[in-house]
Amino acid sequence: MNSPPVGIIRCSHVTVRYVREKEGALRDLSFSAEPGERIALAGANGAGKSTLLLTLAGMLLPAEGSLSVGGVPVCQSRIGELRKKTGLLFQNPEDQLFMPTVEEDLCFGPRNYGMDEETLEEKLDALLQNLGMAGLRERSIHHLSGGEKRLAALAGILIMEPDLLLLDEPGSFLDPAARRKLIRILSDLKTAMIIATHDFDLARRLCTRTLILKVGRIRADAPGSSLLDDAEALERWGL
Ligand SMILES: Nc1ncnc2c1ncn2[C@@H]1O[C@H](COP(=O)(O)OP(=O)(O)OP(=O)(O)O)[C@@H](O)[C@H]1O
Ligand SMILES: [Mg+2]
Repeated sequence: MNSPPVGIIRCSHVTVRYVREKEGALRDLSFSAEPGERIALAGANGAGKSTLLLTLAGMLLPAEGSLSVGGVPVCQSRIGELRKKTGLLFQNPEDQLFMPTVEEDLCFGPRNYGMDEETLEEKLDALLQNLGMAGLRERSIHHLSGGEKRLAALAGILIMEPDLLLLDEPGSFLDPAARRKLIRILSDLKTAMIIATHDFDLARRLCTRTLILKVGRIRADAPGSSLLDDAEALERWGL
């Protein structure tokens, strides 16, 4: 018998609880995602969007249920592999950047994984150009504006070319031109991605599917972005 394809995400009855919390921040969550899908993840404040992204990146572990990313189970012993497969853009860019300069920050991950310097230089150059941040290459992280930090954090993820992008409010802090550039860059990528966002316009422009979370549970899951245009349903979901 053929085994089922591994897909990009297989999430079955997953519950995630924070330490000392009795109720799960994610409760009995089940869904799958295939390569190339761009999924908008919407839900009110506290619905569990960031928790889901952190769990898919292996930074939180399911208390119940089974979860795999690109065929790798999300569990303690496989964290290294999960980090390689996923690129998580944190909701707050301050949580992401940790090296003294933009260049050092962007090179840290690829060097760690043994990318040769010539390839790295090529990728870095192309990426900085593409994001319109070539002028920021040598800049101290502490001297970046909010939007520049957001772009630097995004560049740090894209340079790793992960199989699954997990983007938590990628458009926040960006001015309209940078936000348009972000949408263009993301829509040109073939990579599967989940975008947690309150920015429905960005979701409409980018996403091939929409998932709605409410108090840790999936309330709706449909192709395209039409869920975001259903005013009555949005009200019910607390949006
Ligand atoms: N470190 C933590 N410890 C305990 N509870 C937490 C922790 N982080 C989040 N929570 C709780 O888990 C629930 C889900 O939070 P989460 O950050 O995933 O929501 P969100 O959908 O990303 O919200 P937002 O739109 O505000 O970013 C909330 O009730 C929140 O209070
Ligand atoms: Mg969040």
